[in-house]
Amino acid sequence: MRDDLKSRALAVRENAHAPYSNFQVGAAICTPSGAIYAGCNVENVAYPEGTCAEAGAIAAMVADGAREIAEVYVVAGSPMPVTPCGGCRQKLAEFGAGDVRVTMATTGGVQQVMTLAELLPGAFGAAHMEGDA
Ligand code: THU
Repeated sequence: MRDDLKSRALAVRENAHAPYSNFQVGAAICTPSGAIYAGCNVENVAYPEGTCAEAGAIAAMVADGAREIAEVYVVAGSPMPVTPCGGCRQKLAEFGAGDVRVTMATTGGVQQVMTLAELLPGAFGAAHMEGDA
């Protein structure tokens, strides 16, 4: 895992807007070219309108014209590493292959690594829509 991915995720987590859950999350993704994009969770008083850290990082990548995720790092302040929610797993799978490494970490230094395929087995993909009459 790249050290700069970790430092970017930790830094962006400080900017999280999480007044309702008080649970700040930072995410950083890198592309095959080595570019890094970071995002934090942005909550809203209308709770369902809040967005996850991973979604912010993906939006920044796409806005910059990049389309491929090579590695992911997610960090939160909980004792146990936080795994991306179901929606974010699908969002990550849109731009990342099954073998992409996702490092889930705590600010205290606990780390767990899984691949995207392990996080989202049986992912819905474009192939499932082929041949529809
Ligand atoms: N959250 C993330 O940003 N990423 C995750 O992987 C898990 C959960 C956020 C959403 C919400 O703002 C807060 O954490 C509590 O669920």
